[in-house]
Amino acid sequence: MKTETTIQGLSASLNPARAARKIIGFVPTMGNLHEGHLNLVREARKLCDVVVVSIFVNPIQFGPNEDFDSYPRTLEQDQHLLAEVGCDIVFAPTVEQMYGNKPRLTNIAVSDITNDLCGLQRPGHFDGVAVVVTKLFNIVQPNFAFFGQKDFQQLAVIRQFVRDLNIPLEVIGVPITRAEDGLALSSRNGYLSAENRAIAPTIYKTLQTAEAELLAGTALAEVLANMNTTLTAAGFVVDYIEARTPELQKIEQFDQDVVLFVAAKLGATRLIDNLQVKYPAA
Ligand code: PAJ
Repeated sequence: MKTETTIQGLSASLNPARAARKIIGFVPTMGNLHEGHLNLVREARKLCDVVVVSIFVNPIQFGPNEDFDSYPRTLEQDQHLLAEVGCDIVFAPTVEQMYGNKPRLTNIAVSDITNDLCGLQRPGHFDGVAVVVTKLFNIVQPNFAFFGQKDFQQLAVIRQFVRDLNIPLEVIGVPITRAEDGLALSSRNGYLSAENRAIAPTIYKTLQTAEAELLAGTALAEVLANMNTTLTAAGFVVDYIEARTPELQKIEQFDQDVVLFVAAKLGATRLIDNLQVKYPAA
C-alpha cells in the first residue's frame, strides 16, 4: 500500500491503472478510521481493481464552533488498518495541497435537501462537503465512490450533485456498521464519557421500537413523539427527530418506505442515526 500526499503523486500512482482501464474505487474519509469506514473499503475491494482511500479533515465543512481543531488525526494507525483490508493507495493531502493559497470563488450548493435535518443546525456544512467531494472526485477520477448510510443526508446530497452535474461515476451507499450494543460507529463516539457511552445505544433501541410501532399501525406522529419522550428521559437533548422518504421528502403518514432520523446530544457530543422502515408489500 502506498501513501500519497500530493495530487501529482497520486496521479503518478494512478496513471498506470487508468491506462490499463482498471476499475478504480474511492472511499473518502476524514480518518480516525473504525469498522464503519473499513467496511466501505471492503465493499470497494469487492467491486474494484484499485482502491483509493482519502484521509482529509476538510476545514470548510466545519462550523466556527465545531471540532475541526480537535478532530482526531491518527494517520499512522489508519494506515495500518487500511493495509489490512486491502487498500491500495491512501491519499492524505494537506489543507494547502487541497485548497492552495489563492481564494476559492466557486461553491457547490445543493438546494432544498440541504435546508433540512443536519443542514439546519450546520449552515454551510453540506456546501463544504459538496466542494471537497467534487474536488476529490476530480483528483481521483474513480469509477465507483462509496459512502455510508450512517450519514444518510450526506449520501443523498452527493447522489444529487453527481446526477445534476453529470459527474461520471457511480455512487454506492453502504449500510450502517454498529457496535454490538447497536450504537452506530462514529469517530465522535470517542468523545463520550463512560457513563454517556452506556446511554448512547438508546438511540438505536428507540429507532427499533419506532419501527415496531409503525409496523403495528401506530400513527407516524405518535411514533415520533414517543421517540422524543424516550430519548429525553434517557438524558439526550434532542436536536431533531424526523421522518422523510428515502429521497428526503416530507412524509406525514407511513404509507410508503420511510427513513427515521435522529440527531441528539449527550453531554457535548452530537450523535446521529437513522433507520429505514420498509412499507410492507400488500
Ligand atoms: P467521515 O465522517 O470520516 O466518514 C467517511 C465515510 O464513512 C462516510 O461515507 C460515512 O458515512 C462513512 N461512515 C462513518 N461511520 C459509518 C458507519 N458506522 N457505518 C457505515 N458508514 C460509516 O463523512 C465524512 O467523513 C466527510 O464528510 C467526507 C465525505 C469524507 C467529506 O469530507
